[in-house]
Amino acid sequence: MPILRNPEGLRSWRQRQRGSLALVPTMGHLHAGHISLLRLAQARAEQVLVSIYVNPLQFGPGEDFAAYPRSLESDLQQLAGHGCTAVFVPGDEDLYPRGATEQTRIVPPERLSNILCGAQRPGHFAGVATIVLKLLHLAQPDILVLGEKDFQQYRIVGQMLDDLNLSTQLLCGPTQRDEDGLALSSRNSRLTSAQRVLAPRLAAELRQLCQLPIGSPAQAPAQAARERLQAAGFRVDYLELRDSESLEPIAESRPGARWLLAARLGDVRLIDNMVIP
Ligand code: PAF
Repeated sequence: MPILRNPEGLRSWRQRQRGSLALVPTMGHLHAGHISLLRLAQARAEQVLVSIYVNPLQFGPGEDFAAYPRSLESDLQQLAGHGCTAVFVPGDEDLYPRGATEQTRIVPPERLSNILCGAQRPGHFAGVATIVLKLLHLAQPDILVLGEKDFQQYRIVGQMLDDLNLSTQLLCGPTQRDEDGLALSSRNSRLTSAQRVLAPRLAAELRQLCQLPIGSPAQAPAQAARERLQAAGFRVDYLELRDSESLEPIAESRPGARWLLAARLGDVRLIDNMVIP
């Protein structure tokens, strides 16, 4: 499995490839959720490129860029073991040679990117859109695979592909969960054992909200769920019912609408979402 370390290496590898290519962008510290995205990519394309890069552009001041878990050696072993075709592992100086602050950025529309996670993390989705577009230009994949757990990111990247007339097809891999329901995330490894015991309550509250009778108002049950989570020790950033396409707020439970939440345990910020069946 070739390990490509910079844009030049990736470009020259790409020129030698024949057949369809899927790209799975990641920030590493891989878990079963990432591997499920790799599997989805392998089912849809002849070759799969995984990128591993903790992108400084999508972290704000005071966020967990430095503390973000990194485990490159074991990531590479897992990818090789699962038949990944090649891995792109660039350094900051390779992707942002002028420095991150001098980098031209892609600014997604405010309606999608200043809400939910974007309201708490200004500039986050500009950082995500910028790195994803760079990766698309470098790798020229036929297919891009993102995870449903980061649903707002999936919607924003989908709109970027559309707005910028890119022909890459976007696939969304379903959220993978531990047995107790906690959505798999690299950040879970930063939870203390006491926090890890609490964390599945997020998925439990979402599951309960998804079971509200169709047509019932969303606001009061959302408020009650927020209060239960706060009482258990979470700091809830948001817990809201939104349209799965537009991400506009929705007042009443209806099939296809989506509950989205972000909450902190200590300094670990977790996100999750579930769609009403
Ligand atoms: O979802 C992620 O891990 C990141 O936001 C991504 C898409 C790899 C861009 O850095």
